[in-house]
Amino acid sequence: MRRIAAIVLAAGLGTRMKSSLVKTMHPLRGKPLIRYSIDAAKELEPARLILVVGHQAERIMDTIGSEAAYAVQHEQKGTAHAVMQAVPFLEGFDGDVVVLYADMPLLTSSLIRRLVETRSAGAYAATVLTSVFSNPSGYGRVMRDPAGEFLEIVEDRDCGLAERQVDEVNTGVYCFDSRALVEALERVRPDNAQGEYYLTDVLGIIKSAGRRVGTVVAEDETLVAGINDRKQLAWAERVLRDRQLDKLMLSGVTIIDPSSTFIDDGIEVGRDTVIKPMTFLERGTVVGKGCTIGPSTRIADSVIGDGSTVEFSVIEESCVGDDVRVGPFNHIRSGTRLCPGVKVGNFAEIKNSTIGAGSKVPHHSYVGDADVGEGVNMGAGCVTVNYDGKRKHRTVIGDRAFVGCNVNIIAPRKIGDRAYLAAGSTVNADVPPGALSIARARQENKEGWVKRKMEEEQGR
Ligand code: UD1
Ligand code: CA
Repeated sequence: MRRIAAIVLAAGLGTRMKSSLVKTMHPLRGKPLIRYSIDAAKELEPARLILVVGHQAERIMDTIGSEAAYAVQHEQKGTAHAVMQAVPFLEGFDGDVVVLYADMPLLTSSLIRRLVETRSAGAYAATVLTSVFSNPSGYGRVMRDPAGEFLEIVEDRDCGLAERQVDEVNTGVYCFDSRALVEALERVRPDNAQGEYYLTDVLGIIKSAGRRVGTVVAEDETLVAGINDRKQLAWAERVLRDRQLDKLMLSGVTIIDPSSTFIDDGIEVGRDTVIKPMTFLERGTVVGKGCTIGPSTRIADSVIGDGSTVEFSVIEESCVGDDVRVGPFNHIRSGTRLCPGVKVGNFAEIKNSTIGAGSKVPHHSYVGDADVGEGVNMGAGCVTVNYDGKRKHRTVIGDRAFVGCNVNIIAPRKIGDRAYLAAGSTVNADVPPGALSIARARQENKEGWVKRKMEEEQGR
């Protein structure tokens, strides 16, 4: 294959977004729209990648950085004018020039490749990607001669009645022989309804110079959809989301309700895991085999081992081992490691802590900056008091320790293996292994106190 240069057009504002943010920077699946075109272009391994920017150029350049060369189009005088700005970057380049828009996030590099291959196979000076749209209005229409050969593209605004009936449209993606493109661009004139330089005119110019223009028809109209407003943005979000869910389901994951399941691209989920409704699996997450995740769960940037269950909970930047049970109603915060067999439930919050194998933090507890050993039982309402108002301190709890209900451990503190902490204790000294620590006021029962009080009151 010959060398490829890719030109991505992104100078327009995208007025139909009704936004102060340039259209191509609006997020789609957490990434700016423009990212998708750049990635598709990069998959072609282009010798040159030129991005034509105008509106909010700085913003786009900040995001794409050195991945592309930038041609600035100060005034948007049409698609051909935009490509003209990229011509200086083609100096000394001889090969295929692919042109695409920055607002076609579903376009695949394999479709672009077909356009490139068709051009060389058919000895065409240019190839155009077309598609048959059920509603072609607004698009340039593809005109063909009786033999079906490409004739020209007529813009929607310039269409007559008969032309308007044509349902084959120009998607705006092209492959040009570099020399034919540069020569034809010099001859484009803005003599049309909008007074713009139309890239579509380049095709007519090439044809009148006696060279041939070919077409590739995209069968799947979703692949070539341009995003112009927020409704279409949401539609694309849905298409990409479904692609990821389909991929997971076909790989052996059960998703009870795809319409209420949100899984970022690239996330891996093991076989026989069941994802229940209202579940969000976000960037950086890996879920193992045979897990049950959800309902109503958000897991971000975390690893979940095999056979674990997470329900009605939020897990962030944490590592959950095999056969762990989280939920209902837990917040597992950054830096937490739950070892195999741990049980966490009912309104416990855990942050930056390790909970050893088989330990339980079942009810209303806060464990922060702690290293909890294996087989530890934390009673209801325990708190590691990790913050003194200025700094955070760690708590260490030994293996098989038993922490009674409503215990505060004032960090930094070390609780030895198998130690018992009596319910209601506020522990502010280390506890040796095997000791029972009672750190609360001794209970005193004042016999007959109520009767004496009543008598006193009556005597007054
Ligand atoms: C263009 C095509 C039309 C096709 C349609 C597909 C022309 C004349 N018409 O129409 O045949 O059916 O796309 O969507 O090419 N841009 C610039 N600078 C400019 C103008 C546009 O960078 O001066 C960029 C825009 O940011 C956008 C893309 O080019 O990404 C397309 O521009 P747009 O104005 O949407 O083209 P259409 O008029 O819709
Ligand atoms: Ca458009």
